[in-house]
Amino acid sequence: MNSHATLLEAYQRIRSLTLQLCATLEPEDAVVQSMADVSPAKWHLAHVTWFFERFVLEHFDGSYRRLNEDYDFLFNSYYYSVGPMHARPQRGLLTRPTYTEVLDYRKHIDDAMLALLQSQASDEELRQRVVLGLNHEQQHQELLLTDIKHVFFCNPMRPAVNESLVVPETVSVGDYSYKDGADGIHKAGADGNGFCFDNETPRHDALLHPHRIGTRLVTNGEYREFIELGGYKNSNLWLADGWATVNEHGWSRPMYWSGDLQSEFTLAGEREVDPNAPVAHLSFYEADAYARWAGARLPTEFEWELAAAAEDVEGNFVDANIWHPVASNSSAQFFGDVWEWTSSSYAPYPGFKPLAGSLGEYNGKFMCNQMTVRGGSCVTAEEHIRVSYRSFFYPDARWQFLGIRLAKDED
Ligand SMILES: [Fe+2]
Repeated sequence: MNSHATLLEAYQRIRSLTLQLCATLEPEDAVVQSMADVSPAKWHLAHVTWFFERFVLEHFDGSYRRLNEDYDFLFNSYYYSVGPMHARPQRGLLTRPTYTEVLDYRKHIDDAMLALLQSQASDEELRQRVVLGLNHEQQHQELLLTDIKHVFFCNPMRPAVNESLVVPETVSVGDYSYKDGADGIHKAGADGNGFCFDNETPRHDALLHPHRIGTRLVTNGEYREFIELGGYKNSNLWLADGWATVNEHGWSRPMYWSGDLQSEFTLAGEREVDPNAPVAHLSFYEADAYARWAGARLPTEFEWELAAAAEDVEGNFVDANIWHPVASNSSAQFFGDVWEWTSSSYAPYPGFKPLAGSLGEYNGKFMCNQMTVRGGSCVTAEEHIRVSYRSFFYPDARWQFLGIRLAKDED
């Protein structure tokens, strides 16, 4: 996204994709918040728009006027330094503004943004903020899909979000196997080529101990065996917090599986569980317990990164179009299938510096009590798939496409 024309094209393409993702939704669908972690589709549409209003237009365009003063409070997510915000668990109460009014808000911002991009395209800080805003919107495109999946799952009719979105689609067969991982001191973190978020920096030395790492993801069939052999009933397999969480919620299977372990809810509606597809929608606690049951452990994020760096990220994908979602065609399945839980706490790299000003709240302030996940999922934007990309979730989170790769210490 270096040139003026490219940035303008990217803005239009990414903003319109967000609307395309909502094309199968009715206004009623777009209001519901099925749990605190889930945001209504309407809120996502408005919040990503607010990001451009607050951090770009009001910063660079002295003539810009807000469409509605209330939106600053309603659609601020967590930026305390710019002002107060509506409580996250109550986003589903926002029947107003209406869906149509939110679309009008998007149009208002897009008109102003396109004029700004044409008049001040050479401003480097503007360019950087727009690029961040677009990457932010792509992160919310993923959330929009995972959130509406949960909303529809909570509806007894179990409607499909989109019949063509059966993901993840990649399959693997044969016994689980391992390969030697890198050991010693290696560079980790973003290498400075292309966009990255601040939490991927700085590139630094990481120490890896001798280990072996799985050559593919754990499958549904393998996870079903763990369940059938009593994995959820054996406290010896579980971290203390995990055992408490499993019992508190009565978990006995992945989030979207039926009680008979034969079908699962997907974005395309109910489907038979494919035993060879990667298992998904597991918490860190379940991933960790499965690994222990399998005589293994989860990889650290640097073990994952060094192994993934040996894979060819370019060309691993069948299609960048979200209606043919990102899916690895590499048998190693490092990128674009499911986010992979690591054993690494989400923490700053040595020398980490958050972005200056309010945008410093983007990532850094969440570096406590969460676990790092790697690789991106089948609903991650293809442009985000890179070796250094890291996301983070609380260990009990399950609603994202979250799965398992195993590792072992060298004997
Ligand atoms: Fe956001």
